[in-house]
Amino acid sequence: MTTSLTIPSACDFHLHLRQGDMMRMVTPKVAEGGVSLAYIMPNLQPPIKTTDEALAYKKELQALAPNVTFLMTLYLSPELTVEEVRKASKAGIRGVKSYPRGVTTNSESGIESYEVYYPVFKAMEEEGLVLNLHGEIPSDHNNNVCVMNAEEKFLPELEKLHKAFPNLKIVLEHATSQAAVEMVKRLGDTVACSITVHHLQLIVDDWAGQAHHFCKPVAKYPNDRNALREVVASGHPRFFLGTDSAPHPSHAKESAHAHAGVFTTPLVLPYLAKIFEEIGCLDKLENFACHFGKQFYQVTQKDGFETATVTLVKEDNVVVPQQYAIATDPSTQGDLGAVVPFLASKNIGWKIAKNFC
Ligand code: NCD
Ligand code: ZN
Repeated sequence: MTTSLTIPSACDFHLHLRQGDMMRMVTPKVAEGGVSLAYIMPNLQPPIKTTDEALAYKKELQALAPNVTFLMTLYLSPELTVEEVRKASKAGIRGVKSYPRGVTTNSESGIESYEVYYPVFKAMEEEGLVLNLHGEIPSDHNNNVCVMNAEEKFLPELEKLHKAFPNLKIVLEHATSQAAVEMVKRLGDTVACSITVHHLQLIVDDWAGQAHHFCKPVAKYPNDRNALREVVASGHPRFFLGTDSAPHPSHAKESAHAHAGVFTTPLVLPYLAKIFEEIGCLDKLENFACHFGKQFYQVTQKDGFETATVTLVKEDNVVVPQQYAIATDPSTQGDLGAVVPFLASKNIGWKIAKNFC
């Protein structure tokens, strides 16, 4: 039985770090979770739409976590021009995130049709920028579309985009379905999937009635979770870690209208060790969490990234904290609420014994 694992620090290719007090609480926790490279989502309020905004945001994050390399993205919107794509590329911005309108947190200015963006996608293809897709179509009850099939119904759009731009690197973010896994396997080398920690663990029964497991896209059927588990256990190089860790204050989760998002940042590698051990593929954790994403994105030292190592150990009683207070100023602690992490108060059996920083 493996009881200790030394691997390179991990890369999280889909992360929400927010703004203000939440950002100040969450960002230092990236390294605590064993992650030294993070690909940052732009769905702030207002969204990050320009190179200058992304660089200013990066500076704030870097000051809070000097040991982490941040790769930045822009929010796809009508304001994104071909010129801005070229400017972004020169400035080291790595991708553009597309949110269909209204399907998730801060997606009010998301998009309704992809065709109008073809000139932008062409420029991205030429510049080597990655298109990050939130792959869901909005619910349409007259046509039997709801959260359970919204991802599957999006897949023809993914295929169409890939056919139109075969050299454009596309990541179907936070895949949750067997259909998505099959489609991405079938498409070419320029199409990949990020997979979250929580979607390897949860199914629909786990979030129905349990606000802290509610996220978008929602966790699906047992066979869908099996497909995710099988593809990571097979060591497929186009399926890699993107946690989609998305913190919300507990009062926003535990409300009549629960906000979507699961918070995994402080314990990314321990959660993964627990889950990969349960699936029986601990030997596949390193490639999934540390190498495959970097290979797809072709991250090099030019991005400021340097390899470091993390040691995980198996222990009898590793209990996840009940919550993380948002306020960092001791005099106001508690005023701003707290974030409840994934598997709060549960024993996950693995911890980081030696971190990279
Ligand atoms: C994300 C968030 O809260 O920003 N929520 C989520 O459930 N995943 C948005 C997103 O990535 O969909
Ligand atoms: Zn996300």
